[in-house]
Amino acid sequence: MTKPSTDLISAPVWDVFVRVFHWSLVTLFAISAITGKVGGGWIKWHMISGYAILALVLFRIVWGFVGAEYARFTSFVSGPARAIRYGLGLLKGGAQHVISHNPLGGLMVIVLLLLLALQAGFGLVSDDEIATTGPLARYVASETALKAMSWHRTLGDLLLILVGIHIAAVLFHVLVKKEGLIRAMFSGKKELPAELASEANAAKPASTTTGYVVISAAIAIVVIAVNWSSWFSK
Ligand code: HEM
Ligand code: HEM
Repeated sequence: MTKPSTDLISAPVWDVFVRVFHWSLVTLFAISAITGKVGGGWIKWHMISGYAILALVLFRIVWGFVGAEYARFTSFVSGPARAIRYGLGLLKGGAQHVISHNPLGGLMVIVLLLLLALQAGFGLVSDDEIATTGPLARYVASETALKAMSWHRTLGDLLLILVGIHIAAVLFHVLVKKEGLIRAMFSGKKELPAELASEANAAKPASTTTGYVVISAAIAIVVIAVNWSSWFSK
């Protein structure tokens, strides 16, 4: 739901799992990007950080179905027509308030989550022909493992560009539209017009137990995948 700017009231929007997810992802993405580019002995840390990103992303995808109201994909995924309308409205006027991610931001969130999962997937089955093979590389043809490494390099650069666009868009909202989006990703609370604020106040909170179960399952899946060949293959 979008609303033009009026008097604003603080209301809870981002549950603690979304916030911890986001800032952990930021830290791990920085580690992955730096260690991936530097290479050498740092690839060991690069792989560990990549596994952690994969667990986070798996968690977030499931949380998009079972998480708190505004973490759910249904609250922020919309078609391209709505995204374009929102973008044009943004260029014309002041801030257009939304409770969850705006229609353009929502698209970027989906793209980032899917490409991060794909990037980690390429890493798992890749072979760099120097010193490193992903833990699942033996299950694909060696030609595929080499290709996966090359796709991993290309997608790594694409992700850096997309993250640059994401940060620029956030800064545009913060500096030009005067929306406290970064503060909200820390506190969980967003400044909203009264009608949207009361809607957000009435929303069902996240189940903490479900959150812990989903994150534990995501970690378990990644740990099993990474150790599959040493635990289950002869
Ligand atoms: C210091 C750099 C960053 C800042 C300041 C930042 C800020 C933000 C903010 C304010 C939001 C919420 C936007 C909204 O209100 O709709 C957000 C969402 C998001 N950002 Fe970032 N971001 C940064 C870096 C990154 C990086 C490096 C990644 C991924 C590699 C990333 C991925 C995401 C994702 C997936 C979401 C959606 C969160 C969710 O719904 O769980 N961000 N970011
Ligand atoms: C989503 C998580 C990940 C991100 C964002 C990421 C990103 C990157 C980037 C940006 C590079 C540098 C590419 C270049 O040379 O320009 C890189 C290289 C590399 N990555 Fe990842 N990576 C991730 C996960 C993984 C995983 C899980 C593995 C292995 C299990 C892996 C293995 C490698 C290796 C071996 C290289 C060095 C490639 C070379 O020899 O040039 N990465 N990665």
